[in-house]
Amino acid sequence: MTLKTNIQSMKKTLVLIALAAGLSMAAQPTLAAGGAEHPRKGGFSFEGPFGTFDQGQLQRGYKVYREVCASCHSMSLMHFRTLAEPGGPFYDAHQVNPAENRFVKVLAAEVQVPDIDTETGEPVMRDAVPADRFPSPYLNATAAAGANGGAAPPDLSVMAKARHDGANYIYSLLSGYRAAPAGLKIGPTQYYNPYMAGDLTSYWSGEGHVPPGGFIAMPPPLMDGQVTYDDGSAETVDQYSKDVAAFIAWASDPKQVQRKRSGLGVLIFLFLFAGVTYVSYRRIWKGVAH
Ligand code: HEC
Repeated sequence: MTLKTNIQSMKKTLVLIALAAGLSMAAQPTLAAGGAEHPRKGGFSFEGPFGTFDQGQLQRGYKVYREVCASCHSMSLMHFRTLAEPGGPFYDAHQVNPAENRFVKVLAAEVQVPDIDTETGEPVMRDAVPADRFPSPYLNATAAAGANGGAAPPDLSVMAKARHDGANYIYSLLSGYRAAPAGLKIGPTQYYNPYMAGDLTSYWSGEGHVPPGGFIAMPPPLMDGQVTYDDGSAETVDQYSKDVAAFIAWASDPKQVQRKRSGLGVLIFLFLFAGVTYVSYRRIWKGVAH
């Protein structure tokens, strides 16, 4: 008797739990109002298991980073010589030693890095050499935040790994700025971007749905015609965004393509090895009853 009522009450509890779960799931969409827009596809050559970087695109991407982004963003894990490594933007088959690469020597010398004068001990600035890291535009994070409305520009060395769908996200973010919709309360040092993570519910008093995306302290960094390309590529915000996103994706993982290649080699080896094993198995057991 007691067992039966126990089972019955258990059943009731289970039904209640299932109902509660169902209700909370049904309530999700309203809670998730806002949210960011799904990144657009940049059509990158390096996606997929056989993808490789387009060297011209990486060179253009470096130019955009150097001329535009580097005034706010560090990439402190990058050395100039990395640009000349196999698969990198300035790899030169005739000069495989990255430290001797003539393009990278010239590009490094265009950038000033801080150093200490060995004679006087005074801090000085000098031309960079391939062994140097990319210098930071600010002395420290406090100075960086102070100059940018309170939000320090993050280091871009591994940015493509730090965000979901990295390259497409960076491309979409940079080329996706829109005027803030009427009804969105926006601060003086903030910009609206539909691809930035955030929830704008509490800033929204307009008609209809809460707009997707969030606020970002980075002013739209790119304009058509801002960076000169000498290979005939379009000098547009869209193209600049793609190129610099590709460059950041490469910088976040410069050995990616080499790794894909050796992975393919291993697969081919395993495939052949399986064949050899099978043939020898047939030979060894030939004529043996089993
Ligand atoms: C005037 C300074 C400035 C310039 C120039 C600039 N940025 Fe930013 N960037 C910022 C600041 C400030 C933030 C932090 C924004 C925030 O957290 O709200 C930021 C954030 C970012 C983020 C991270 C967004 C996220 O998901 O958190 C990326 C990616 C980025 N910038 C890429 C770039 C690229 C690429 C360029 C060059 C085309 C560039 N930025 C040029 C100031 C700048």
